[in-house]
Amino acid sequence: MSKWKFHNPVKIHFGSGSINNLSALIGSRKSLLITTPGSTKRGTTSLVRDLLGNSLVAVFDEVEPNPTLSSVLAVSKNIRRLMFDNIIALGGGSALDTAKTFAAVDASGNEGGLADQLNHKFSYPKNFTPKPIIAIPTTAGTGSEVTMWGTIWDMVAKQKHSIEHPLLYPEQAILDPDLTITLPRDETIFSALDAISHAMESIWNKNHNPISDIFAIEAISIIYDYLPQLINNLADSTLRSYIHRASLLAGLAFSNTKTGLAHSISYPLTTHFGLPHGLACSLPLVQILKFNAVESADRIKIMAKALRADTTVESMASELTKLFERLGLHLNLSYYGIDNSCVELISDLAYTSERTDNNISSINRNDIETIVRSLFDEEKYNI
Ligand SMILES: [Fe+2]
Repeated sequence: MSKWKFHNPVKIHFGSGSINNLSALIGSRKSLLITTPGSTKRGTTSLVRDLLGNSLVAVFDEVEPNPTLSSVLAVSKNIRRLMFDNIIALGGGSALDTAKTFAAVDASGNEGGLADQLNHKFSYPKNFTPKPIIAIPTTAGTGSEVTMWGTIWDMVAKQKHSIEHPLLYPEQAILDPDLTITLPRDETIFSALDAISHAMESIWNKNHNPISDIFAIEAISIIYDYLPQLINNLADSTLRSYIHRASLLAGLAFSNTKTGLAHSISYPLTTHFGLPHGLACSLPLVQILKFNAVESADRIKIMAKALRADTTVESMASELTKLFERLGLHLNLSYYGIDNSCVELISDLAYTSERTDNNISSINRNDIETIVRSLFDEEKYNI
């Protein structure tokens, strides 16, 4: 690769207690807070209220798990007539992606027929100027605080939509690991699995570059070393800080490469079978590693050190499988109640050029079916 570029405009504030600078970062602007019922229950919404006082003009705390069309429309309905200058997105990927999509809808006046629009291509007006977003992730995995994409799920139509615009990068991201300390065990694991998927997919990606590689390898290394420790010490602030950092680094990596094959396979697992996003992404990783090692061994080898493996595909696949084992994860899709008669359906839906074309090795529909079929293979995945 002779020519490449790396760009990310998000101003990042990282560290324990960094949320306390929120007021100073916002200045005299009026804010709308978009968050989840969980943030309100845990007291984080109140913390933001206390920090911002009268400059917080409204709170919408009804974002649903997996950012949905109905969440976005509900924000629009409740907030439409209020005057505010910026949006604070507080929560996991659901809050951040809802905020981005709402910002796009708000700036476009495109609320009507949103589902229809998302099905085709969201149309941005010429003078598109969305309100700036301050992203405060309270999970460690989504990376959405440093990307220009928003993912919206239509669980009724079993579809996943994306919006994308350079002006939808958050203006600032506040990564305060203390906000993740109460995240339950499963959510901690699934979020971190999303991050390791982002990191690996940015490595075996046609759009990779030397900077995205550095971020991705460091993210994998941190998650490999510290996630198994964290799940047995959920209140350990140092371990929480490491995983929050890994999530950020993985986010920076895929903010420039986009995701790829694992995310592509994950979407039908979420829309049709309800698997949490991070879990669904991680299930095919071992098989994709093996697939990509055939044509693109050099790309795969750069992950060896991070996985504490030697550079053979067997060693890397084995270490990755061991990581999942230490997390108590079942990699066989049958475990999640999915029948192997669904292989063709999953493979059809997973083959989307938007993502599969990013994969470093060429891949066709049959290759995907082989990968998906292997996810039902008892011998391969009997852990
Ligand atoms: Fe993801």
